[in-house]
Amino acid sequence: MKIGNVTLKNQVILAPMAGVSDLPFRLLCKEQGAGMVCTEMVSAKAIAYHNRNTIPLLAVSEEERPVSLQLFGSDPDIISEMAAYIEERPFDILDLNMGCPVPKVAGNGEGSALMKRPDLVDAIVRKTVSRIRKPVTVKIRSGFTADTVNAVEIAKIAEAAGASAVAVHGRTREQYYTGKADWDIIRQVKEAVKIPVIGNGDVDSPESAKRMLDETGCDGVMVGRAVRGNPWLFREIVAYLEGKPVPKRPSKEEILETMLRHTRLQLEFKGEYTGMREMRKHIAWYTAGFPNSAKLRDAINAVETYRELETLLHERF
Ligand SMILES: Cc1cc2nc3c(=O)[nH]c(=O)nc-3n(C[C@H](O)[C@H](O)[C@H](O)COP(=O)(O)O)c2cc1C
Repeated sequence: MKIGNVTLKNQVILAPMAGVSDLPFRLLCKEQGAGMVCTEMVSAKAIAYHNRNTIPLLAVSEEERPVSLQLFGSDPDIISEMAAYIEERPFDILDLNMGCPVPKVAGNGEGSALMKRPDLVDAIVRKTVSRIRKPVTVKIRSGFTADTVNAVEIAKIAEAAGASAVAVHGRTREQYYTGKADWDIIRQVKEAVKIPVIGNGDVDSPESAKRMLDETGCDGVMVGRAVRGNPWLFREIVAYLEGKPVPKRPSKEEILETMLRHTRLQLEFKGEYTGMREMRKHIAWYTAGFPNSAKLRDAINAVETYRELETLLHERF
């Protein structure tokens, strides 16, 4: 699969997820075979203000490439300016968030609220494409409300404005993450545009990834919630799509080793205080469904250092 001049190793992509798809997690997903990984969304305005908490979100590494860096905002001048400002960083694709449902973002006219402003979609994509050489992509929802489903219109506008691909999450903003994703809207977008279409929403197994590709004709699949605490899903989906035997689920030893390595990566990038806190949710995801996982989670939440964590996991997981 190709997006602009960027060739992906395969068509299985890690979704951008705030608070999840940071550099350590992206590296683990890449290792498990993800064809491309996406950063958490980054506010263009916050970059302009040199916000202290925002700049670390822009960190990308050679090892994870190809990587897509996602910006959000609503002002075409600020977004395009910031895209140009960061372009020399080693990311491959600049993605524009047009799907975020949270009130702090959508209430501000950003993220999914852009689905209501085709004029702004056009201006944001057009200006950004004119300012950078790297491919620009957009990530959209099916629409804002059930009565205003307009992914096809928005995708066509993005394409005409120069976007190199479009990712479609088959839910409206109104739906947030509830109900079932509508894959038919992905099919409709695929039929309406020539640029690659990435399908997204409810892929949680090798079989569902294949079903999405078959039912919608989309070029790639983007996986979000199902890979939290489960980067191995990438190797499974990739093998299945290539017609190879699907690797076994990871052993407990592999899960344990990955949790610890994930923690070491967090500490390397964020320091012990923040890194250990970041790991609490990841460990809850890694261990969900195992016996005593609730008790283990409580114990982990009280742990402050890597050594304590290591001991606890060896004893209790
Ligand atoms: C915790 C969380 C954070 C997310 N953050 C982002 C984000 O920063 N940018 C974005 O475009 N989508 C974001 N999403 C949406 C996902 O990229 C994806 O569209 C959605 O989860 C549907 O895919 P899934 O069913 O595979 O999870 C987020 C989703 C979750 C659950």
